[in-house]
Parts: sequence; structure tokens; C-alpha cells
Amino acid sequence: MDGSQFMRASAKGRAHNTVVDYLTVPGAQVTQAERKRIKDMAGLHPNGVLVNIGIMWGCTLWCLRAGAPKARLYGIDIAPWKWEIKYKDELDAILWAGDSHVVHKDFNDDINVLLIDGDHHYNSVQRDIAGWVPKCKGHVIFHDYAPTPNNLKQFPELAGVRKAVDEWFVTQVGWVERPAPDSLRIFEWQK
Ligand SMILES: C[S@@+](CC[C@H](N)C(=O)[O-])C[C@H]1O[C@@H](n2cnc3c(N)ncnc32)[C@H](O)[C@@H]1O
Repeated sequence: MDGSQFMRASAKGRAHNTVVDYLTVPGAQVTQAERKRIKDMAGLHPNGVLVNIGIMWGCTLWCLRAGAPKARLYGIDIAPWKWEIKYKDELDAILWAGDSHVVHKDFNDDINVLLIDGDHHYNSVQRDIAGWVPKCKGHVIFHDYAPTPNNLKQFPELAGVRKAVDEWFVTQVGWVERPAPDSLRIFEWQK
């Protein structure tokens, strides 16, 4: 596993999606509309494999879990010890501490929902797309594709998400775009 740590956050027999309200759990600028849409996308794959790059407080992980209580849920973060995932025991996720640009080499499951919200610099988003999107034949969700002008002043690297996603999408034939609120952009694989 290339030196990365691997941890199971167990549900201990509890019904995770009734314990935590995904609409109020702390998150990094994840709006209410985004939370609902992420939950709905997960709900299309109730027994699927869901991967969230960029865990932080675990908000987007909780949205995925709320939509698919029985799915196999993975979270990947380069520095998960920096933030506390709320109600980690109830999340029932496999939490992977490592660089998403490396971890994908050891990830062998087919992915149904891939949520990319890791390093927002252009080259990093490009590398996440190259490493992870080929493993997904379902839905890919990008967060922070459309940041606010305020965010861009404070975090100019957010512009990298838009550039990398736009450059990827124009070369694609298998993916079509689906409606997405606020800063999300969502694509669906066409069989
Ligand atoms: C915007 S935050 C994610 C917010 C989270 N989705 C939420 O719901 O609150 C970005 C996260 O990506 C992580 N990150 C940055 N670079 C990374 C990399 N190369 N591999 C994995 N995670 C990375 C950071 O540690 C941080 O936790």
C-alpha cells in the first residue's frame, strides 16, 4: 500500500445514516444544495463503491453515506490527522491516509461514484483525473469547480479545478454532463 495507513471506521452495528445529519455536519464550504445533490448521486448506487478524495471534516463523506447506507465507502486524504472527522465511528468508511496521486495505483475496485475534492491546484486536479477517473464507470463529482470571486481572491489555486476539468471534458466521448448546483460539476458515464 505504498507506506500509506489504512483504517476502518466501523459502524459497530449502528445505523449510521440515522445518527448524523449530513446537512449540518461541518464541512469545507459545502452548501446545502451541494450536500443534497451528492447524497442523491450516491443513492443511484446503493450497493456501489464510493470514493471521496479529500476528507477534511468528512462532510462530503457523510453526504455519500447518507445517500447509500450500504455502499462501500472510501475516503482518501494526505493529512487526515489535521481535522477531526465528525462521528467517525458511525461513518463506516475505509479511510486511507495517503497522497491521492499515489494511492490510486493500489486501488483495484471499480468505482461507481468518484468525488474529487483534494488538492485544488491545476496539476494536482489533472493528476487526480488521470489516476482515478479511468477506474470509474458511474458518476464523477468535482467540488469547487465554480468558486466564488471571494474564494478566488483568498485561494487563487481554486481556478485550477475549473481549468483541469474543462480541459479533460472536451476530450471525452464517454462522459455526459448532469445538472449540478453551486460549485459542483457532475458527469455520468454512458455505457
Ligand atoms: C477542500 S478539503 C476537502 C473538504 C471535504 N471534502 C469536506 O467535505 O469538508 C481538501 C482536502 O484534500 C486533502 N488533500 C490535499 N492534497 C491531497 C493529496 N495529494 N492527496 C490526498 N488528499 C489531499 C487536504 O488534506 C484536505 O483535507
